[in-house]
Formats: sequence, C-alpha cells, structure tokens
Amino acid sequence: MEMKITVLCENTVGRRVGSGEHGFSAFIETDLGNYLFDTGNGHSVVANSLVFDKDLRSIQKIFLSHGHYDHTGGLPEVLKLKGEVDVHGHPHIFLDRISVLKEKDKETKRFVGIPYKRNYLESLGAHFLFNSDFVEVESGMFLTGEVPRQTLFEKPDPKLFMEIGGKISQDIFPDDQSLILESEKGLILILGCAHSGMINIIQHVIHHRKREDFYAILGGTHLDFLTPEQLEESIHSLKTIRFERIGVSHCTGMKAAFRLQHEFGDRFFQGCVGSILEV
Ligand SMILES: [Fe+2]
Ligand SMILES: [Fe+2]
Repeated sequence: MEMKITVLCENTVGRRVGSGEHGFSAFIETDLGNYLFDTGNGHSVVANSLVFDKDLRSIQKIFLSHGHYDHTGGLPEVLKLKGEVDVHGHPHIFLDRISVLKEKDKETKRFVGIPYKRNYLESLGAHFLFNSDFVEVESGMFLTGEVPRQTLFEKPDPKLFMEIGGKISQDIFPDDQSLILESEKGLILILGCAHSGMINIIQHVIHHRKREDFYAILGGTHLDFLTPEQLEESIHSLKTIRFERIGVSHCTGMKAAFRLQHEFGDRFFQGCVGSILEV
C-alpha cells in the first residue's frame, strides 16, 4: 500500500505556512482512501487542511488516540465539514480527565478531557465505533487497542488524573491507542501521546503483527514529561528496534527531541506541522 502522511496539527511549525497549537493530528492518504488520526485541539485543523490542500470532506474514517482535548477538540470542526463518518476510539475516550499542576504552593486543576458530549458529536455525524482489543480497521490498517504495561521504566504521568463514578485516580490511560499502517517499506506506527509508553506500544505491535520491521514511528512520545531515566531507557530500547525513520511531535518536548536527534541522526525528523512521510 502506498501512502502519504501529513502532520496537520502539532505544536511547532517547520515550514513557512500553517499554524501551530498544542495538539496532534495527521492526515493519511492511501490507495484505499483518506483518513484522519486525531483532530488537534480545534484551532488549526481546518485552517491547516486548507493550507496543505487536504480535503477533510474526503476522509473515510477518523481514529482517536485517546480522550484528551488536544487530540479530540477539533472533532466538531471536522464533522461540520464531513458529516456522517465512523469515529474509532476506545470506550473510555469520554472519561473526565483532569490535569493538576503544582507550582511552589499553588495547585492548578484543569479539565483536559474531550470537550464535547457524545450526543452532540453524534448530531454532527459521528458514528462511534469502540474497540479495546487490537483490531484491523481497514485492510492493512490496525488500531492497537489497550496496550499492556510491560516495561518497568514507562510510568504514568503523575500530573494526569481520570474520574470514574465520581472517584478521581491516577490516569492510567486504558484508552491510549496507536495506529499501524502496513507499507511496502515496513510498518508505520502513528502515536497520539504514547501515554501507555512508546516501548510498550512497539512491543504490543510486534506481538500482534508478528513482525518487527518498522519503517517509521511518528507522533507524540511524551518523553519530556517524565523522568530522565525513562528517556534514557526508552532510547536504549529504541536502539534494539528496527526502524528507518522516527518523527517526533507534540508532547515529545525539545529536550527529548534533541536527544533522539543526537542518537538517531538522519533517521530522526521533527514531525512539525506540514511534515510529510511518504512511502
Ligand atoms: Fe497530547
Ligand atoms: Fe494526552
């Protein structure tokens, strides 16, 4: 399958056009049709689609990596253009999410879940299709479903919480899932925020697809938000994995991106707004 993946929403703008925002979205063009992975936070998905000449009305499916606002906030704008469309995600994408930031003696709580009710999104045309398991969503395209936490060094972000039945607890992101595309050059793995851990995700994909030839890993890795040990251990593990390109975006953070660039040289690229991965 031939494909072209364009980063539509991301924190940084590397080309002369497009707008940055805190969020992630990728427009995927394949022989089978066009797809959207995540929708950014809502500020730039439509504007950037026009700048990069990607017709959001042409998409056949939307895939949601998890329920955070910076991946789902663009849903209404996309749905207003597209109308009826399948939206794939984990059943927990609608959980209430909270981020708690502690600075000195001040604690700031922020709602960071999906900012819209399910029935509002359905009224705009969303057909939600939920999966918890690894699933083939189109020929040669897979969603990871829930990712088992296997590595000891990939830990949940201590700033993030979820609310179930009025009880607030550490967010363990059961809904975090990634997209896999089978290309002629190998597997392409697209991450949203990798809250379940980039290495856990990669191992999960290898387990299910029974192959480990990745062509590219693209998207948010969340590496800068955690401990230096996690970054070092993740790099150590990445060195044992076969891949040609690694394009990091969004929640990777500058420090982790610089480290990855240093380690992987020409195989590394910044997955900024307008970046293209073509196979
Ligand atoms: Fe994110
Ligand atoms: Fe997230």
